[in-house]
Amino acid sequence: MKAIIGGTGVYEAGNSIKRTVDTEYGSVEVDILELAGEEIVFLARHGKDHSLPPHLINYRANMMALKNLGVKYIYATAAVGSCNENFEPGDVVVIKDFLDFTKSRPMTFFEGGDQPVRHVDMSEPYCSNLREKFYNKAKEEGLIIKGDAVYVCTEGPRFETASEINMFKQIGGDVVGMTNVPEVVLAKELGICYAALGIITNWCTGMKGAISLHDIEGAVAKNRERLTDIFIKIFQEGLDQNNCTCKDSIIEL
Ligand code: HPA
Repeated sequence: MKAIIGGTGVYEAGNSIKRTVDTEYGSVEVDILELAGEEIVFLARHGKDHSLPPHLINYRANMMALKNLGVKYIYATAAVGSCNENFEPGDVVVIKDFLDFTKSRPMTFFEGGDQPVRHVDMSEPYCSNLREKFYNKAKEEGLIIKGDAVYVCTEGPRFETASEINMFKQIGGDVVGMTNVPEVVLAKELGICYAALGIITNWCTGMKGAISLHDIEGAVAKNRERLTDIFIKIFQEGLDQNNCTCKDSIIEL
């Protein structure tokens, strides 16, 4: 089973079935789309009506629901601001690493107690195989990808100060968002291959005047549709967890 987080645009294309998945962390509503014999799970990260702010999203329930459905591969999209001059609003980037500035979120499935102490390896947080497949397919489909990006995850829901953005630039951040951590970490803890594409919606605070959010929805909607199309094509060509290290990234003491 394969999943897309944050994808929109193809719901109308096939027979999608709504399903509520119960987990020990809460229940999650997903859409399962059957396309040419392939079942693809769609999960709206913020809830169907975008009712959850980034710091209150139940990331553990979301990821455990996908695991319980048997998902082994996830492509996600994330709206991001850019603090790199080379990446402009409207561009798409492949996230290759993150810097974590979140503060208050449940971050792990590994809570100790009657479980052994476990640590997850973060040398390659985003699946190398899914990233490579994405680059190849995007090229075939004529979608320009601006490059690899380091994602800075802030706690939100407020935007950043100009000084914070200045610091993020200096320590190697390229794009800034509020949702990719702990999502990517939890996927790895579950042994799921996970890749995320950043859709740049705005210049970060202090980069080029005030943040204008009125273009965000257009940029996201246009790119998400094309990205979702590419994800589905990759899913339909088949994937193999032996082409990466995602399924064995846990170090148990
Ligand atoms: N900062 C944080 N999160 C975001 C931004 C931003 O500028 N744009 C879209 N998500």
